[in-house]
Amino acid sequence: MRTAQLLSRYAAPMLGRARLNMFAAKAPITRLSSVSLLRGYATGNTKEQAILERIEEKRTAATLGGGQKRIDAQHNKGKLTARERIDLLLDAGTFREYDAFVEHQCYDFGMQNNKITGDGVVTGYGKINGRLVYVFSQDFTAFGGSLSKMHASKICKVMDKAMLVGAPVIGLNDSGGARIQEGVDSLAGYADIFQKNVEASGVIPQISMIMGPCAGGAVYSPALTDFTFMVRDSSYLFVTGPDVVKAVTNETVTQDELGGAKTHTVKSGVAHNAFENDMEAIAKLREFVDFIPLSNRESSPTRFTKDSKERQDPVLDQIVPADSTQAYDMKDVISRVVDDGHFFEVMPDYAKNIVIGFGRMNGRTVSIVGNNPLVSSGVLDINSSVKAARFVRFCDAFNIPIVTFVDVPGFLPGTAQEYNGIIRHGAKLLYAYAEATVPKITVITRKAYGGAYDVMSSKHLRGDLNYAWPTAEIAVMGAKGAVEIIFRNESNRADAEAEYVKKFANPLPAASRGYLDDIIVPSTTRRRIIEDLEMLENKKLTNPAKKHGNIPL
Ligand code: HXC
Repeated sequence: MRTAQLLSRYAAPMLGRARLNMFAAKAPITRLSSVSLLRGYATGNTKEQAILERIEEKRTAATLGGGQKRIDAQHNKGKLTARERIDLLLDAGTFREYDAFVEHQCYDFGMQNNKITGDGVVTGYGKINGRLVYVFSQDFTAFGGSLSKMHASKICKVMDKAMLVGAPVIGLNDSGGARIQEGVDSLAGYADIFQKNVEASGVIPQISMIMGPCAGGAVYSPALTDFTFMVRDSSYLFVTGPDVVKAVTNETVTQDELGGAKTHTVKSGVAHNAFENDMEAIAKLREFVDFIPLSNRESSPTRFTKDSKERQDPVLDQIVPADSTQAYDMKDVISRVVDDGHFFEVMPDYAKNIVIGFGRMNGRTVSIVGNNPLVSSGVLDINSSVKAARFVRFCDAFNIPIVTFVDVPGFLPGTAQEYNGIIRHGAKLLYAYAEATVPKITVITRKAYGGAYDVMSSKHLRGDLNYAWPTAEIAVMGAKGAVEIIFRNESNRADAEAEYVKKFANPLPAASRGYLDDIIVPSTTRRRIIEDLEMLENKKLTNPAKKHGNIPL
């Protein structure tokens, strides 16, 4: 497998600066990515020969970007160059470059004599595990990867082509932002990219990997894409840097605290995943792309698995603790159900009370959403609602079935949540599930209380299959809260609570109303889901015609 090969070739056992230097020494940049198309083409015509030489000169210049000194500086920061990144990302020999000869058209501030062929971004297409992707990789060695009008038009070109043929766009971002010398032209270039990001949204997957600086308005292109990944310690995203923050708010903050990978994957939720270094990031990117379809016209790829679809996992029969207040890890459930235990978790460090990510069932990609009782009892709050809502919408846009595992005590009460808009944000998840037309299968492992039942597990939101394990409890609220309200004046509350538990702390009331399709033995969950996904393969469901809905943003 190429990912494993990459890791063993470049990553293990030592990572970081020393290893990167070895990589650079082993793989001189002239061999990377841009292979001369004119090599071997000879003509007797002297004039033509001179042109060929100039073309070769320019192409070599393009492969060198900002020159060896700046390449060394890039390596010394523990970073790969734009071309090295592309070389690692794409299947060997598949990269076809566009616009290697492009140069900026700026004549101010001495720029007419300061041109770098390629203008700070390498663009083109290639393959990942045999599947087409478009890519742009900003070259920090050329004007700090800053964005000029021409640089922007190169990016827009690959976005247009990708939309035309239906293939993802992967952006490797490493840029000082708007090319200062170009003034408003570079701002126009950004706006052109933003417009394309929006047009491409829901048509082709768009993935941003932040591998260096990304500041100012530049952050809004990654923010408009479907997934934003970051490299730890070498990448940052912020609207304004520490100096401006100090001047405006008098806060003292480091670059990393303000916009590093930890900030965005743990606190802000702006980025989805963070990786140790360039090589791990690119290997993970390849793994990730393998889960998703090329466009909204296609399904996800099928990957061979030896994991039998009949496989039963007896551990699942014991995984829910007898005491319903005791926690367990929903990720254990997920990894026991998907093929080979392979679950690519998205946003693993943010709003951990909900788990989202991709796995495969009998070789086909499924998206997984699961409340996690291990963190805050799996409660739904603002952050978990928003996290899952955006994910559900991505999966719906790109034909990826959604499997939901439910163990949720409800929405989180309290002033903090109410003042910050849990109603509006919770509604996002409700909206996303209700709008989704892809196959939707739900497994209630334990609690499905209150509004959270409706959001996560409801047949009423056009869910296709709604299963419960025998441990399921489906009710308006937990027994204690319910008794407080409806038996307020009863002297014997304990009896009332016991009666409530007997009546509602099991799946039968919901099953007797047809809200559950079946109560299943936990160890058979994998087989049931796979059978249902096969049955739902040709599901067709459309929403009423409209310009677009109005999701509560
Ligand atoms: C032109 C730039 C540049 C820029 C960097 N360079 N940023 N050139 N426009 N925006 C050039 C530097 O002059 C330098 O050229 C080379 O890139 C490397 O930069 P260094 O500063 O030497 O690198 P480093 O020390 O690693 O610092 C990186 C940096 C810093 C933190 C990104 O360069 C920086 O602060 N740049 C400016 C960031 C910025 O304010 N950008 C505008 C944001 S506003 P030489 O020739 O010396 O190698 C924005 C608005 C977008 O982007 C709005 C869209 C709607």
